[in-house]
Amino acid sequence: MRFVVPRLGFALIDRQHARLAADVRVLQVAVKHGRPARSALGRLIRDTRRHFATEDRLMRLVGYADEAGHRALHEGVMSEMLRMRAMLATGKTLHPRHAEQIFEWLLHHTAEADRNLVGRLARR
Ligand SMILES: [Fe+2]
Ligand SMILES: [Fe+2]
Repeated sequence: MRFVVPRLGFALIDRQHARLAADVRVLQVAVKHGRPARSALGRLIRDTRRHFATEDRLMRLVGYADEAGHRALHEGVMSEMLRMRAMLATGKTLHPRHAEQIFEWLLHHTAEADRNLVGRLARR
């Protein structure tokens, strides 16, 4: 699986998505080689929080109509990441499939919710 997020044409968001994809790659490599995944997952969570905060700010800025729905999607993704972190904290290990699953959420989210947001930002 290639961890590449398509560009949407809004530089700040594209840059943050590329960083999240890179974080997922680091996480996946750690998990695949049986290395501790805690710090890689921690970095992914930190960058994801930062990214969601950026999008939340942009949505407020333009009075985005579906702000609540989009924020709810972000909260769903974040709660899955926190669930994985809690798994690690109890001594369980992550499977490469977990990293792929995170990437699929990001990809799916980018392709729909974020694409709509970027479309709205372009008409600002
Ligand atoms: Fe988003
Ligand atoms: Fe995004």
